[in-house]
Amino acid sequence: MLKTRDCGDLRPTDVGDRVTLAGWVHRRRDHGGLIFIDLRDRSGLAQIVFNPESHPETHDRADALRNEWVVQIEGEVTRRPAGTENAKIATGEVEIVATSLTVLNPSLTPPFAINDDSPVDEALRLEYRYLDLRKEGMQRNLKLRHRVTRYIRDFLDARGFLEIETPMLIKSTPEGARDYLVPSRISPGHFYALPQSPQQLKQLLMVAGFDRYYQIVRCFRDEDLRADRQPEFTQLDLEMSFVEEQDILALMEELFAGLVESVTPHLKTSRPFPRLTYAEAMDRYGTDKPDLRFGLELVDLADIAVETELGIFRSAVDQGGTVKGFVAPGCAGYTRRQINELIEFVQARGAKGLVTIALAEGKSLDEMELGDVRSQVTRFLSMDQVRRMAQRAGAGPGDMMLIVAGETSVANTALAQLRNEIGRRLGLADPSVLAFAFVVDFPLVKWNADEKRWDALHHPFTSVKAEDLPLLDTDPGRARSQAYDMVCNGFELSSGSIRIHERHLQEKMFELLGYTPDEIEQRFGHLLRAFDYGTPPHGGIAYGFDRIVMILAGSDNIRDVIAFPKTQSATDLLMGAPSPVDPQQLADLHLRLLE
Ligand code: AMO
Repeated sequence: MLKTRDCGDLRPTDVGDRVTLAGWVHRRRDHGGLIFIDLRDRSGLAQIVFNPESHPETHDRADALRNEWVVQIEGEVTRRPAGTENAKIATGEVEIVATSLTVLNPSLTPPFAINDDSPVDEALRLEYRYLDLRKEGMQRNLKLRHRVTRYIRDFLDARGFLEIETPMLIKSTPEGARDYLVPSRISPGHFYALPQSPQQLKQLLMVAGFDRYYQIVRCFRDEDLRADRQPEFTQLDLEMSFVEEQDILALMEELFAGLVESVTPHLKTSRPFPRLTYAEAMDRYGTDKPDLRFGLELVDLADIAVETELGIFRSAVDQGGTVKGFVAPGCAGYTRRQINELIEFVQARGAKGLVTIALAEGKSLDEMELGDVRSQVTRFLSMDQVRRMAQRAGAGPGDMMLIVAGETSVANTALAQLRNEIGRRLGLADPSVLAFAFVVDFPLVKWNADEKRWDALHHPFTSVKAEDLPLLDTDPGRARSQAYDMVCNGFELSSGSIRIHERHLQEKMFELLGYTPDEIEQRFGHLLRAFDYGTPPHGGIAYGFDRIVMILAGSDNIRDVIAFPKTQSATDLLMGAPSPVDPQQLADLHLRLLE
């Protein structure tokens, strides 16, 4: 080894030891005479002192050092002179008096500073990712990612799970996104798909008798990207045989409670993780991935709204929609500008508008008159109606009600996001809390109005609740599935389900989803045939692994926990992918580009 110790490990107990260190020049300071450098390696920083009197030649060469040069230093660990200790770093009580210096490699001046936290344009960070990854925050995130992986592997191993790899070149699987395709050279005109998930393969592993499988596996989806989505991402994927929904949820709760306790003990969770039905989540939060760190629950105001003289309220309800809202506590004093911002916020999310009703401070709800109510629509409301809405919503003096009328899904989407926004503005989303919850009883299918057919809400392999099976023939939209999600702080961390394991039910499901017998055979024949050979009841779940790490790292950007991520437009700025290829490569693949 070119070094005997790690920089960040040196302590007063090492005083007197001769050490050889190697790393990067993090910072250099010239104190008229003495030269100091902070030497950095993965473990942290150590302060090196070059003394012109004791080692003049080494000192002279240290003068040439610049940030990010790679150097090797020999010297003696000494205690820092009294009063010069640095309590902010772990090695702050010691320094190394250098006796020799070897420059292993110089460096150009980096395009951004590694040694401070000033914000850097993300495109530049991604182009020079190897430099960005040197920074403390990114080092911390990737170390965290490693520890999360370790914990999960140990946990599942201790419970009898086998880690089994599945292929990356497969046949297209329907998970709702577009596939990344790989053309075959050997079979002209044929394509592999990169897996959107190993869904069918893990089910086949259950048929094969590997009754507890898991994998930390790369998945690929060509879909619109967001802060929590990447075109290639990692899943913690698992599947079990002979289980029911409750078994999987209980195991996952144990896994996540243990993970947080051992890997991020500074974060708080509470058990049991609440379980909400999909219907409840939509009613109370307008979304199936609510942030449960705070209340601000939505209430249904339709029955009161129809009594008012306000056209938008009445027509929303008449047209089968809804009027819902929630209370922004203490926000009665919002200025017109602040209110307009909120209106624009919901309009950008599809709602026609936002009704705000602010209740002045000073009087109780009972004593209040319309003069104490500030709203764009006061003249269409009676005090009795305002009072009843406030009581329903839990609004009091000093509060403001935020109300959206319209088509139910539009109102829910807008209110759910407005609720998160208000939660954030009011500082209600405590960053030290992880509010895990399970959302259960999802609908099995949803109507696709554009294509006039039913789509699977989760995927077509999900089983219906036994008691709702008859609804498949009469009213599929009301049938509930055995699908479940785990959510945390407003993010969907995972989805899973108990699967269909009988051929006739799987065929029935494919038919419901509008596949013709030919399509069923062509796309899923392999799975159906497997179901003829003794398929055990089984179910599983898959987590967005990057999302888990993102939440544990306290970030809201998935790219912060991936070593080499892609941009929002699915490009790799470091290597420059995607890129054109040689005409010969295309010819080998029997491909010709359209102009
Ligand atoms: P699903 O499609 O819900 O289910 O995916 C499971 C979890 O994977 C994460 N995820 C993503 N993370 C980052 N970028 C993406 N583009 C992305 N897409 C999904 C989410 C999501 O909850 N086979 C089923 C699981 C099962 O039924 O067992 C599946 O893949 O956190």
